Amino acid sequence: MKRIFSGVKPTGHLTLGNYLGAVRRWVEVDQHRADALFSVADLHALTVEHDPARVRRLSRQAATLLLAAGLDAERCTLFVQSHVDEHTRLSYLLECTATDGEMRRMIQYREKAARERARGGSVRLSLLTYPVLMAADILAYGTDEVPVGDDQAQHVELTRDVAVRFNRRYGHTFTVPRATLPAVAARVMDLQDPSSKMGKSHGSGAGAVCLLDEPDVVRRKVMRAVTDGAPDVVYDREARPGLANLLELLAACQGADGSGEGAAGPEALAAAYRSYGDLKRDVAEAVVELLRPLRARHAELAADPGYVDGVLRRGAERARERARPVVDRAYRAVGLLPAV
Ligand code: TYM
Repeated sequence: MKRIFSGVKPTGHLTLGNYLGAVRRWVEVDQHRADALFSVADLHALTVEHDPARVRRLSRQAATLLLAAGLDAERCTLFVQSHVDEHTRLSYLLECTATDGEMRRMIQYREKAARERARGGSVRLSLLTYPVLMAADILAYGTDEVPVGDDQAQHVELTRDVAVRFNRRYGHTFTVPRATLPAVAARVMDLQDPSSKMGKSHGSGAGAVCLLDEPDVVRRKVMRAVTDGAPDVVYDREARPGLANLLELLAACQGADGSGEGAAGPEALAAAYRSYGDLKRDVAEAVVELLRPLRARHAELAADPGYVDGVLRRGAERARERARPVVDRAYRAVGLLPAV
């Protein structure tokens, strides 16, 4: 059976970008067609300055939201990364496989390190090695497919390179995975700054719709979205990025199957609008309706933390069972003496 792995990092409240770029497909497609594992990647949240209590809170919230969005603990494995030691065990072996140059070329590292330095802060070593930990997350499970948004595609490419190199050097050990991206909304942009992606952890928050935002907050954020000077409604990602983002959001919200197939694409939608005002109103309502059931289910689940804990405990057990043999095999392959 095909194996799927993906994750979210609890560095902030999950956004519409996370949902449309990744989570919705996990729920609607991936958990039904494969042995699928989804992780709250809490170790990744330590690569930048963090408040321990907040990381703990956001980790629980992310797990609760993933269940609220529709991950079914009977169908897939949901767990917290730090509950399964195999990730860090394997990460070290991959640090001995990847190169310094490869790490420094990663776009996310370059952007985040530059931001950190501009603030006068220091850059944690783990920010540089983060893609190797992510490769370990993926390779530990013999993963075939990694459903992610566009911003993570480079990290999955690196994972492939590292897997191929390891296999060539030490004999076949890892499945070589591939990234799968959504047809629409692979990169949802910030509503206030359409040149950067909608992210959990940067900006004022005015440009990012969080999954738990109240309907009126969603409406306000969408209605205030930055659009472009020209009055007509056309889909042009290069010349009219703010407008293109709204059209893509609408297309994605209307896509019934999570891949956007079967729904009108952003070009076709553009033809149906004469003014920004109408488009924004429709986007706002589409997003509010998309998030409504998720918010309601989150409120129910948040009232029952014992249930969420149980799901995460069973998830970690299942994840360990799957990762252990792969990581043990990798330890033997590189020449480490097995413990007796
Ligand atoms: P993270 O937490 O930044 O994002 C989680 C998922 O959401 C997607 N995404 C977006 N998609 C479209 N538009 C956006 N604006 C947007 N923002 C985020 C991301 O591409 C991702 O699929 N390092 C990963 C978490 C991780 C992981 C893994 C993923 C850890 N280990 C192993 C896959 C496999 C991260 O920071 O995702």
